[in-house]
Amino acid sequence: MKIITILLLCCFCFSVFSQHNSVNDKLVIAHRGASGYLPEHSMAAKAMSYAMGADYIEQDVVMSKDGQLLILHDHYLDRVTNVAEVYPNKKRSDGRYYAIDFTLAEIQSLLMTEGFVVKNGKQEAIYPNRFPLWKSKFTVHTLADEIELIQGLNKSTGKQVGIYPEIKSPAFHLQQGKDISLAVLNELKRFGYDNLDDKIFVQSFDPTELKRIKQHLMPKLNMELKLVQLIAMTSWQETLVYHNGTSTPYNYDWMLETNAMEKIATYANGIGPWKPMLINTKMNQQKPKSNGLLEAAHQAGLVVHPYTFRADINRIPKYAQNFDELLHIYYYDIGVDGIFTDFPDKAVQFLQKNKDKRH
Ligand code: G3P
Ligand code: CA
Repeated sequence: MKIITILLLCCFCFSVFSQHNSVNDKLVIAHRGASGYLPEHSMAAKAMSYAMGADYIEQDVVMSKDGQLLILHDHYLDRVTNVAEVYPNKKRSDGRYYAIDFTLAEIQSLLMTEGFVVKNGKQEAIYPNRFPLWKSKFTVHTLADEIELIQGLNKSTGKQVGIYPEIKSPAFHLQQGKDISLAVLNELKRFGYDNLDDKIFVQSFDPTELKRIKQHLMPKLNMELKLVQLIAMTSWQETLVYHNGTSTPYNYDWMLETNAMEKIATYANGIGPWKPMLINTKMNQQKPKSNGLLEAAHQAGLVVHPYTFRADINRIPKYAQNFDELLHIYYYDIGVDGIFTDFPDKAVQFLQKNKDKRH
């Protein structure tokens, strides 16, 4: 998308949406940008989330064949680009198109769109009521492009919006010969992020890699950033452990025990759990209560930033009547410190309406 379009969009958003939130110290983290409105991780979605008043904007980072840091949620290209049409012969035996098999120039020649799945040979949008597939023009950009956008907006607006990069599948990248964590940290340092006071959280699902970052990479680079341990269900196979040519899914079960929080606090500053992990799910459709994980995290000095809050039809859990009630349950009844949301405008407006509340 042309930079002029992004800037026009910013001007439009500034006139329509509210200003920076940061009320009650509760954070709004724009999940892949304002991805409820524009294709995830597009520059336009990032500019829109900035103008909506997000405190932090999220970057999922993967690596290209030529070692460039790309903003993409998957280390595959096929869910959000036309790679299958442009490079039909570059898929691996599992049928997927891996970003790491393509150069940045090849990737930037592709069109990017809303996430889709292919059913019976036809593309179907994962979120049918979001931005339409293949409309307008979006492309994949780099971590440097995005930091320049956010830092540029910080300069021109006088605000201080933070970044929230996630190092995606570091074990996979290492197994493919690429040290993505080292590359990300070097890039962050180049842009001036190097100490605990900087407006940045670095997140990963991989505890082994987070420990390596904390204990080896950051000291070696003379930097110290806040780290967040993302927590997955083991069944998602989010993190693979490679050993002697085979891989097995990392077992996250220990992280859901309250006594895990002290262990995590030895190498991280916060946790990013899937939001149901914080509540007592046995209560079914009644208003849920904390299951104790949040209190244990706070006791250990960790901030708690659950994911992902979506206002789309059928994405609001049955125990909440609407999106505002869902936000109330997590921000105030349970007491989280921030949330990842595809709809940053709604969370900013909710916090402004409730700015006198405390938890
Ligand atoms: O990183 C927080 C949240 O984004 C985790 O889920 O899969 O969207 O990266 P995912
Ligand atoms: Ca993420």
